[in-house]
Formats: sequence, structure tokens, C-alpha cells
Amino acid sequence: MNYILNTVPLLSDVEITNAKGIYYYEKSGKRFIDLESGIWCTSLGHSNRELIKTISKQIAKLIHINKRVLPSYIDKVAERILKIVGFEGKIFFLNTGSEAIEFAITLAGLINTNKSLITFVDNYVSAYGQATGIENKIDIWKCYKCDSSKCSLDCQVLKNKIAENATLIFDPFCFSRNVIEIPQKLINTLIAEVRAKNGIVILDEVTTGLGRTGKWFGFEHYNIQPDIVVLGKSLGNGYPVSSVLVSTKIANEIENQKFSYYQSHQNDPLGCRVAERLVQILEKEKMIKRAAEQGAFFLELLKKELRTSEYVVEIRGKGLMIAIELSNAHCAENIAKKLLNKGIIIGFSIKFNVLNIFPPFIITKKEITKIVQNLKECLDPTIELHERNINNISYPYQYLHRI
Ligand SMILES: Cc1ncc(COP(=O)(O)O)c(C=O)c1O
Repeated sequence: MNYILNTVPLLSDVEITNAKGIYYYEKSGKRFIDLESGIWCTSLGHSNRELIKTISKQIAKLIHINKRVLPSYIDKVAERILKIVGFEGKIFFLNTGSEAIEFAITLAGLINTNKSLITFVDNYVSAYGQATGIENKIDIWKCYKCDSSKCSLDCQVLKNKIAENATLIFDPFCFSRNVIEIPQKLINTLIAEVRAKNGIVILDEVTTGLGRTGKWFGFEHYNIQPDIVVLGKSLGNGYPVSSVLVSTKIANEIENQKFSYYQSHQNDPLGCRVAERLVQILEKEKMIKRAAEQGAFFLELLKKELRTSEYVVEIRGKGLMIAIELSNAHCAENIAKKLLNKGIIIGFSIKFNVLNIFPPFIITKKEITKIVQNLKECLDPTIELHERNINNISYPYQYLHRI
């Protein structure tokens, strides 16, 4: 790349020209399985026909509009989305997950006198200011493997973390590609304390929302009710639309303050229509149940086939969100390159040495079986080892916090 400012090194010189379903295609016709759904966006697969129809129709009618003359059908779209996903309150549309996170934090800051924000270590929440600067973090790595039968606020990990009127924001599973299940006892302790201190709970469902974990929202695995929920990524299946869902109570408080906010593309008709169609397809085609089933099959097969590999430390998953943590004897980046040669594009983290599987929900069991077989071959002990040495890694940039 000569003119694109380079912030992410390319994995290879593959030249993708189009995509359909779970596949990317080169001009030559060579295809690659997209195990990352773009960047965790295309849950329905690339070039979904229904979405293309919706986009084409709306583009011809109205893409963007002055917000002082927002048509009433946008309100109907909002109502339908909230009903399908089962959230009581109001919704606001933006473009990217990061924008929506920052907006959610801004809303919480309007209500909470205390601007204290809390999250977990390695919980990636946004590319921008308010969220990247969160200093008050709970060390999930200590809690994740904690074997104490109960979780207490006296524990060093939690001590003095939750102030009066603070805002707790977290993503329930992803953790910068690690796919960590936060222990239920920790969630119970934290949420009870935030509530007791009149704080606000924001769930960052940018990656976990809309079925990725096998439920509409990741938080449903914990039986909690957040005040604010942020959606992004798969909401547009690749089209940039995100949203902030606020409970009725929070919506009333915000609206009573007559808070004014203008962004060019908030609640744009095209993004709203795409989001509406997406949730309708998820519901109509029972895609969330499918994500749960395909995810369980994938995880079980990976555990069965790779259980004897000395290079695998742990395989973790929730729905179609899977992380394979490798030992230092092997380097995730090199495994990803080997898989690319076999026609599979897999995600990886250099920092955590994990491989990621976040495929479109339409993936079949046959395709899953083929992928696991290829992974097994790449992790075969008889092949050349690529020991992971963080100092010698062929990564020419400073580690970004998110990778
Ligand atoms: C959990 C989580 N929240 C928020 C974001 C930010 O979303 P976006 O990249 O659309 O700004 C990401 C991006 O990877 C994410 O993983």
C-alpha cells in the first residue's frame, strides 16, 4: 500500500475482489473461508440477498436527512427493533461501535454526578478517548480462574473499585479476542454494588450482541438487566451502523435534561433500515439458535481433535465466538499464515497468542469439519515449529492495546 496510511500490516498479498456467504474470492476464482466475518460484522455472511434488496431500495429513496425533519417511520423502525430484541426503552443510531460506546458514556455522565468509569483489564471498548482512557480496571485474569466459592468486595482485586454513582462498562465475553467467561459470582457482586451505589451499568455488546454468543445479548447468559446496551458490528452485517439502547428510566432522565446532540449521520434512514432488516432476518431465519448449535459443534470438535496437541493451552468458546490459546512453542501469527495458504482466513492476537474463530452463522457442519482438520494439520508436532518470541515477531509496529 503506497497511499493508504498503514496501521495494520497485511497478512499477505491476497487480492480479494468480492465475497459471498462465508467466502472471499480473488479475481482468479480462488476462494478463502472468512472465519472472522470481516471484523466480526457479517454474521449473516457476505452479500446477503435480503439485505442487498433493502439497501438498494432505501438508497434510491433516502440515504441521509436533516435531523430536524426526521420521518416518523424511523420511530416505527426503532419500535420494531426494540420489540424483536426484547429491550424496553429507546434507541439511538450511530455508525461505529466506538462512536456508540463514547455516546453511551456521555449519556451516563449526564446522569451520574461521579464521572468514575470502571471496566475490566483487556476489555476493549472503543478506539476513542473516553473509553480508552479508563484507568479503573478489574483484573479479569485473577477473577477468571479464582477458585474461592464466593466473591467479596473485600478481595484485593475488587477493593475500592466501585465508587458512589460510578459507571461500570464491560463486554461480557470477548476481552480483546480472549473469549473469557466472567464468573457469575463476580458479575453478581459487581452489579449489586453498582446498584447499591446508584451507579449505571453499560453493556458493550458490540461483538457479543445479536446472536454471536447464542443469545440476542451476551448479558442474557448472566441474568442481568443493564441500563444501557451498545450494539455495532453485526447490526449492519458490514454496513456501518451502530446503536445505543437506553432503558425507559435512563431515557426519561436524559430527555428531562433537554440534552442536545448532533452528528451528521445519527439516525440516518439507510442505517436504520439496514439494522431493522438485519434483526428481522435473524429472527425469521432462527439464526441465533443456529449460532448456538454451530458454535457448540465447533467447540466440541476442536476440543476433541486438538486435545492431544501440546501446543494448545486452552480452547474457550461461547456460541460462535471461539479462542484457541497457544503455548509459546507456536506462534498464532504463523499458524494464521499457514491457514491462509490452505484458503482459510483466521483471526489472531499477537499479544495473547490466540487464534480466533468468529464465523458467519450460516457456516455448515461440513465446513466446520474441514476447518478443524486443517487446523489440526497446522498444529501437527511433526511440522516445523514457529516458537513465539515476542521480541522477534515479524510485526513492525508497536503493539496496539487491542491486538
Ligand atoms: C467489544 C468491542 N467494543 C467496541 C468495539 C469498537 O467497535 P468499532 O470497531 O466498530 O468502532 C470493538 C471493536 O473491535 C469491540 O471489540
